[in-house]
Amino acid sequence: MIVLVGLMGAGKTTVGRRLAAAVNLPFYDADEEIENSAGRSVEDIFEDFGEAAFREGERKVIARLLSGPKGVLATGGGAFMNDGTRALIRQKGLSIWLMADLDVLMERVALRDTRPILRQANPRKIMQNLMDKRYPVYAKADIHIESGADTHGHTVTRILNAIKARQQD
Ligand code: S3P
Repeated sequence: MIVLVGLMGAGKTTVGRRLAAAVNLPFYDADEEIENSAGRSVEDIFEDFGEAAFREGERKVIARLLSGPKGVLATGGGAFMNDGTRALIRQKGLSIWLMADLDVLMERVALRDTRPILRQANPRKIMQNLMDKRYPVYAKADIHIESGADTHGHTVTRILNAIKARQQD
C-alpha cells in the first residue's frame, strides 16, 4: 500500500486520487472510510464523541485498510502520529510525506471549512504549532515529497520518480 501522510492541506486526498489513477490501483481515503463506518462526518464525530474516539476509529479503519487489497491510501493529518498506526504503515506500506509551506497549507485549507482542529481563533497559529509538533514524526516516512504551489500533477510525477528511484536501489 502506498500511504500518504502529512498536514491538512498538503494535498493527500487530491494527489492520492491522481496517483492511484496513474498506477492503476484503487484509492482509499481514511477520513471518508471513518465517516462511512461511523455514519457521521468527521466534524460530527469530533463534536459528538470527541477527538479521542475519532483517533480510535481512525486507528481501526487504517488497520483494516492496510490488511486489504493494495492501493493508495490518503490518511488524515493526525494518523501517522499514532505509534501503532505508524508501525503498521511501516510494516505493510510505503509511506510518503507530502509537505508544503505554511502559506500553501493555509490557502488550501481555506477552501473547505470542515476541519474541527482548525475551527479556532487563530488557525494559522494552530497550523504552525502542528508543523512544529508533527514534522519530526512525519519525517519518519520512507519518502519525502514537496507538494508545493505547483500543480498536483507535478507532485504525482515527483512521487512516481521517487518510487522508481527507490526500486532501483
Ligand atoms: C486531522 C486531519 C483531517 C481529519 C481530522 C483531523 C488532523 O484530515 O482527519 O480533521 O489531526 O490533522 P486531513 O489531513 O485529510 O484534512
